[in-house]
Amino acid sequence: MFRKAVLASLCFLAVTHTQQVGREVTETHPRLQFQRCTRSGGCQTASNGQITLDANWRWLHVTDGYTNCYTGNSWNTTVCANGQQCSQRCALEGANYRETYGISTNGNALTIKFLTKSQGTNIGGRVYLMDSDSRYEMFYLLNKEFTFDVDVSKVPCGINGALYFIQMDADGGLSKHSGNKAGAKYGTGYCDSQCPRDMKFINGEANVEGWGGSPTDPNAGTGRYGACCAEMDIWEANKISNAYTPHPCNTPNDGGYFRCTGKECNQPRYEGVCDPDGCDYNPFRQGNREFYGPGKTVDTNKKITVITQFITDDNTATGTLVDIRRLYVQDGRVIQNPPTNFPGVLDPFDSITEKYCTDQKRVFGDNNSFARDGGLAHMGRSLAKGHVLALSIWNDHSAHMLWLDSSYPVDADPNQPGIGRGTCPTTGGSPKDTEQNNADSQVVFSNIKVGDIGTTFTGR
Ligand SMILES: *[C@@H]1O[C@H](CO)[C@@H](O)[C@H](O)[C@H]1NC(C)=O
Ligand SMILES: *[C@@H]1O[C@H](CO)[C@@H](O)[C@H](O)[C@H]1NC(C)=O
Repeated sequence: MFRKAVLASLCFLAVTHTQQVGREVTETHPRLQFQRCTRSGGCQTASNGQITLDANWRWLHVTDGYTNCYTGNSWNTTVCANGQQCSQRCALEGANYRETYGISTNGNALTIKFLTKSQGTNIGGRVYLMDSDSRYEMFYLLNKEFTFDVDVSKVPCGINGALYFIQMDADGGLSKHSGNKAGAKYGTGYCDSQCPRDMKFINGEANVEGWGGSPTDPNAGTGRYGACCAEMDIWEANKISNAYTPHPCNTPNDGGYFRCTGKECNQPRYEGVCDPDGCDYNPFRQGNREFYGPGKTVDTNKKITVITQFITDDNTATGTLVDIRRLYVQDGRVIQNPPTNFPGVLDPFDSITEKYCTDQKRVFGDNNSFARDGGLAHMGRSLAKGHVLALSIWNDHSAHMLWLDSSYPVDADPNQPGIGRGTCPTTGGSPKDTEQNNADSQVVFSNIKVGDIGTTFTGR
């Protein structure tokens, strides 16, 4: 819902090549197995599964040396006097995944650590799934099912281990924007429904114009432009709460990559081109306070299998998206998503349908920018264009993740429908709190599968 006061955070003393590419560290993507499943052929492992680190986290240095083009929260204005010049003179460097970023893979499992100390301190991380060295894997989810396992036992209050889809370009914008010589291999082209303005490069140009350091994050800032696109959050979660949330956008190509400026970038909120809140399903927020958490029905002390199904009106991949359903499997047992539990106030919905969204927004008193931006049907048209899978861990400089795991707004009555989202304290979750007290946090995603409905999991 709120989100993504970005997470980028590398304080390097030295070095790099941007939207050129550097030659100091060879970019070697960690391998990550994932599977595609069909009713007729069962599940097959993709031949060349791998991940890449988002460009925002990478060391950016001049092409002819090791001087930083960007340090902390500011640009070197000698080489980055404007966005185009900066793209020509600066290069993105290859990543030392494990040592610098705390990102590692083993077979079909990906671990992302929250905080990693090397020469500098890295906070959070975001990677994308690929099945080649230079293009993101594209997912077409309509009339399909997406399944993964997750271990959130080391993801506490205030931290979010997220798995989600965004309508990015498969090549990271390489072919559309001549300034971008790095492309998907170097994790370029991120966008989401918050229209983040902390992206260092948008449309192959550095976002230097109007750049200002973040008041709360020494390693981030915002520029004049933002990067918008439709987003389907499958999993925003820690060990206390979770939510899944579609966020449609009114950008070209039914929610495709779009460089926003001014009001378009959701400043003020709800006045931009994307739906910033989305239509979320968080079991706790829907009145099921004993469903998800340590020792609860879905026990977050143990690995969880999470299944999400994208149902269309005619049960084909060209139909209209009408329902997004959720199941869990734990210890071999299938656990249904619990129905909304506000008797007499809200009907008992157990999945995301248009009526669920409309009724929930009305009862909770939320702005229905979801409907304004085309609702579930428009989200479906976006998914039909193909989405990229992002996996991340992050903390929240703007709202301390309270919208996910606590009571929000903090001054509202937590017993009113829609206010309580989880049991975390309203006073916690600040970056200072999480970085000092939860430095050992990490999320493990594994066993990623996509395929025909009913083919990606077993259970009783
Ligand atoms: C900015 O880049 C120029 C050109 O490479 C370099 O001479 C200068 O030292 C850099 N400034 C900073 C503050 O790093
Ligand atoms: C939602 O936000 C828009 C844009 O600010 C505003 O015009 C509209 O009145 C709001 N609706 C509600 C129900 O608050």
